[in-house]
Amino acid sequence: MKVVDPAGSPYASLSPGVWRGSTVVFDSFEDFVSRKSRQPDGYSYGITGTPTSRALERQVADLEGARHCVIMPTGASALITTVMAFVRAGDHLLISDSCYGSLKTFGRQWLAQLGVDVEFYPPTLDAGIEALIRPTTRMICMEAPGTVTMEMQDIGAITAIARKHGVLTMMDNTWASPLYFKAIEHGVDFVVQAATKYFGGHSDLLMGTVSLNDPDRYATLRETQSIFGQATSPEDCFLVQRGLQTFELRLREQSRKALAVARWLEAQPQVRQVLFPALESDPGHALWKRQFEGSGCLLSIILEPSDAERAFGAFFNALQLFPIGASWGGTHSLIAYYPASQQQARAFSPTDQPIVRISIGLEDESLLIADLAQALAAYARAR
Ligand SMILES: Cc1ncc(COP(=O)(O)O)c(C=O)c1O
Repeated sequence: MKVVDPAGSPYASLSPGVWRGSTVVFDSFEDFVSRKSRQPDGYSYGITGTPTSRALERQVADLEGARHCVIMPTGASALITTVMAFVRAGDHLLISDSCYGSLKTFGRQWLAQLGVDVEFYPPTLDAGIEALIRPTTRMICMEAPGTVTMEMQDIGAITAIARKHGVLTMMDNTWASPLYFKAIEHGVDFVVQAATKYFGGHSDLLMGTVSLNDPDRYATLRETQSIFGQATSPEDCFLVQRGLQTFELRLREQSRKALAVARWLEAQPQVRQVLFPALESDPGHALWKRQFEGSGCLLSIILEPSDAERAFGAFFNALQLFPIGASWGGTHSLIAYYPASQQQARAFSPTDQPIVRISIGLEDESLLIADLAQALAAYARAR
């Protein structure tokens, strides 16, 4: 970044500046009045962004191969604000049953009460989704692989059908990220990242990004972001910019380790199933291979059943290298538990069993495997 300081001395640095500011000031009355009809990219008030957020938006748009990007305070707000920008009472909204929990709850508990016809569809419906499209269908929400249960979706088939019927598509692409899946090239209208995960990369911030091509929709989304007061902290933008410097390196390494751990887990007698589309045994493998260029660092497992919840306690509490936590994508490995009741409450879950979700960080994979081995032994003893 280059600037000229107030004394007129040039200053150049490798790191970007951090612009703070609630208030934008104008040179003249005319400037103020003319910016009333502002461009979506322009600066008018802190909520619509600063040069810091614009620089990050440019970087993310470039990574996604998109013309525009709007950043939001969290991944959840990126998903929900995009729906709010384009869906109205009377519209029909299709949400994959494998989408992120907050989006599904928002659909069920808010949108449905506000007159939107919300329908959850089976994640593996793929081209069969055409049968669900009605004249009022406004948007299809997708996530691949799905949250917790990792179902793959045929994104290209769904977007082609959506375009034919004039329906918008939104995809949560956080697992593969633009490194391994260029959602825009596959016809997705709005591609969402929880930047909280790989882009930030160090488990110390929350952020979401929505990337898109269409300039009119960009203006609508920017207005919605601003009207809903979805402003992001410039310091968090700076941290994500820093995270992006190592994003590719981290993800390639974490993906490699995750695949090694997944292959090992698959061979363990206490593990009934590994849900990870990069494995040949995964039901979504063919779809993953055809569409994606790599795999994320998050995988799920279903253990051989146990009646005793304390067996899961023995497994989790024996782990030394996997702190228990619900997030993922950072440099530290993490593990989380999703009880059977959660899957049983879903309309289209592939299982009625408890799920253990594992995020692989940058630790040595042989140490991670040794830790999992002794915890699985503890599970076997407690079953
Ligand atoms: C796939 C996916 N999408 C979206 C989100 C939401 O992101 P955030 O926690 O930043 O709201 C998460 C968070 O766990 C996630 O796993």
